[in-house]
Formats: sequence, C-alpha cells, structure tokens
Amino acid sequence: MHVLIVISHPRPNSFTHALTQRFAEGAQAAGHTVEFADLHAEGFDPRWQAEDEPQFEDGPSPDDVLAEQARIERCDALCLAFPLYWYGMPALLKGWVDRVFTWNWAYDQVENPDVSLLRDRIGVMLVPAAANTGKWTQDSLGTVAQRIWDEGSMRYFGFKDQRIHVLGGAEGSPARREGLLAQAYDAGQALG
Ligand SMILES: Cc1cc2nc3c(=O)[nH]c(=O)nc-3n(C[C@H](O)[C@H](O)[C@H](O)COP(=O)(O)O)c2cc1C
Repeated sequence: MHVLIVISHPRPNSFTHALTQRFAEGAQAAGHTVEFADLHAEGFDPRWQAEDEPQFEDGPSPDDVLAEQARIERCDALCLAFPLYWYGMPALLKGWVDRVFTWNWAYDQVENPDVSLLRDRIGVMLVPAAANTGKWTQDSLGTVAQRIWDEGSMRYFGFKDQRIHVLGGAEGSPARREGLLAQAYDAGQALG
C-alpha cells in the first residue's frame, strides 16, 4: 500500500512532525511505502481564489491543485496530521481540503449526489491536542468535530475506512508524549 502523509504545522521539529515520523515508521514496518507532503514547507496557498471557480463549469483547476490531486491519486491511504486548532483543522489544511477535493474530480452532486468519484481509500487523521482525551470524548464538541471531518468531508470524498486519532495531552509530560508517539506508530503498523 502507498501512504500519503499530509502535514500541516509550521515547525519541522514540532510534536506533530514527530508523530508523522513514527506513523511512517509503523507503516514501513508493515511493508508500506510512504510519501510526505509538508504543506508549510512547500508553501501551499490555501486561499480559495477566482481561479478555483471554473471547475464548476467543467473548466480547468489551477496547476497547484492538479499537483495535489496527482499525489492523492497514487496513494491507497491518506493520513492528515495536524494540531487541533479551536476544535478544527489549521486554516492551511482547511484551505487544502477546500481547494483540492474539487467538483467533478472528488464528487459531482448532479448524477450521483452522495457518491464519491474517487476510489475507496483508507483515511487516517493524527490530531495532537492540548486537552486530555477524556475531555475530548466526554465533550459533545469533540463528537461534532469528528462527525464534520468524517461525514462532512472525508467520507464524501470516498474515504470509507476512517481512523481518527485525537491524541490528547500532547503538551504533557515526556512519558505522556512517548505514549502518544507509540500510538502513532501502532496506527501506521495497523494500516493493513
Ligand atoms: C491557534 C491554536 C488553537 C488551539 N486550539 C486547541 C483546541 O481547541 N483544543 C486543544 O485541545 N488544543 C488546542 N490547541 C493546542 C494544540 O493543539 C497543541 O498545542 C498542539 O497539538 C501540540 O502539538 P505541536 O507541539 O506539534 O504544536 C491550540 C493551539 C493553537 C496554537
């Protein structure tokens, strides 16, 4: 299986990057190939512009969007790694989702209103968060955020097998963080 890991964090030595590294090591130990897409390092522009709109009239998409779509087309599993920002994705990653999963490529809403145009893929999210995991699971806001990612976007884009890992306590003790890194490794190894 080929795994694309999309990272949204400005600092290469961040805990988010460390989690992706361990996830990749787990995936490689299970025999998978891994490709990284570091959106900050690559300077991806998350702003939806007038050039993004012709897709709705069967027009072309901008070149940077086509390049991201090509990466997705060659993967069997997509992992999004991002720190939780106000119960959601960082703006950079939200803009990547907005721009890249285009009408007529990811979905159509005309012939098949609820059917993705993409083949089935495994979708993984690695989401470090400062709050502890108990707060996330007890808090209905956590449930809502997870439903928006799952049903509101990723399932819509053909990601049938969703594995959302909210890793609470990401700013905790070294032992706590080591436990979260181990969870990321296990998630990579368990890809299939
Ligand atoms: C703008 C911003 C918003 C944040 N919102 C949340 C939040 O809603 N819930 C939470 O538990 N942590 C929140 N955090 C904390 C980050 O999720 C946490 O610092 C990060 O996961 C740690 O990983 P890092 O060291 O890779 O940045 C927020 C941090 C920032 C900078």
